[in-house]
Amino acid sequence: MATKFIQHQWQALTSHEVHSPFLFRLNEEVFQNTRHYYAFDEIAFRRDQLLQSTQRIPVTDFGAGSQVVTGKERRVADIARTSLTSPHFGKLLFKLAQFHQPKTILEIGTSLGISAAYLASGAPDAQVITLEGSPHIAQLAKDQFEALGLNRITLLEGEFSTTLPKALSQVKSLDMVFIDGNHQFAPTLSYFEQIKPYLHDHALVIFDDIHWSKGMHKAWEMVKQDPMVRVSIDLFYKGIIAFDPGFREPVHVKMRY
Ligand SMILES: C[S@@+](CC[C@H](N)C(=O)[O-])C[C@H]1O[C@@H](n2cnc3c(N)ncnc32)[C@H](O)[C@@H]1O
Repeated sequence: MATKFIQHQWQALTSHEVHSPFLFRLNEEVFQNTRHYYAFDEIAFRRDQLLQSTQRIPVTDFGAGSQVVTGKERRVADIARTSLTSPHFGKLLFKLAQFHQPKTILEIGTSLGISAAYLASGAPDAQVITLEGSPHIAQLAKDQFEALGLNRITLLEGEFSTTLPKALSQVKSLDMVFIDGNHQFAPTLSYFEQIKPYLHDHALVIFDDIHWSKGMHKAWEMVKQDPMVRVSIDLFYKGIIAFDPGFREPVHVKMRY
């Protein structure tokens, strides 16, 4: 991973090499934007509370494929330490939402609600739907949304195979999607195929951990090749795709964040 990351940084475009107006704006207003927002402190406080929690909860482990194991206990602090988007990438989600001003956001994989909080805080007018299968984790996420006053977030609890179709039945289209659920080849492509009919020319989709494993890397490469995809931005830990038909030829870039 370390070698691949260094290669990525080496190959990433510099600000002077970004010629497309869309990528230029994205770079200026999102990737290079170092402004601090009040919401960052509020969400950081919630994260700290979770990191210091002594609570243990039963969790559902969705494992590989359809293998589901329930009842295994985990410390909330360990979940907060290992499963959540980092503050650095949380701020990216906030700034992307602020830049894009989506009306509808879907997140696949809520965990304790930290990334959903960044997304919802960046787009105060958006309806946010987030999906989580582990009931005790879902409850803690709801507690975070309540504490942060984010009452526009709807959490659908259950296996993605049932909650994703349910979420899609509640929207006409999707402006922004964050895929951070089951980080494996087949599920990642399956989520993409399911959301595709709801994406439009100005939608953005963010994939987590695109180089985390061979399977995720392969899934990212296949998503990039989809004829609908006009732009792909590889930030190494996250990948972003856009569908703007203004790009007559697909553009695939590596950028730094
Ligand atoms: C990486 S965590 C999400 C982290 C969150 N987006 C954040 O950054 O704060 C993925 C979550 O998806 C849930 N999950 C994984 N596979 C699932 C499935 N098949 N159905 C429902 N939930 C699932 C897990 O319980 C876990 O909480």
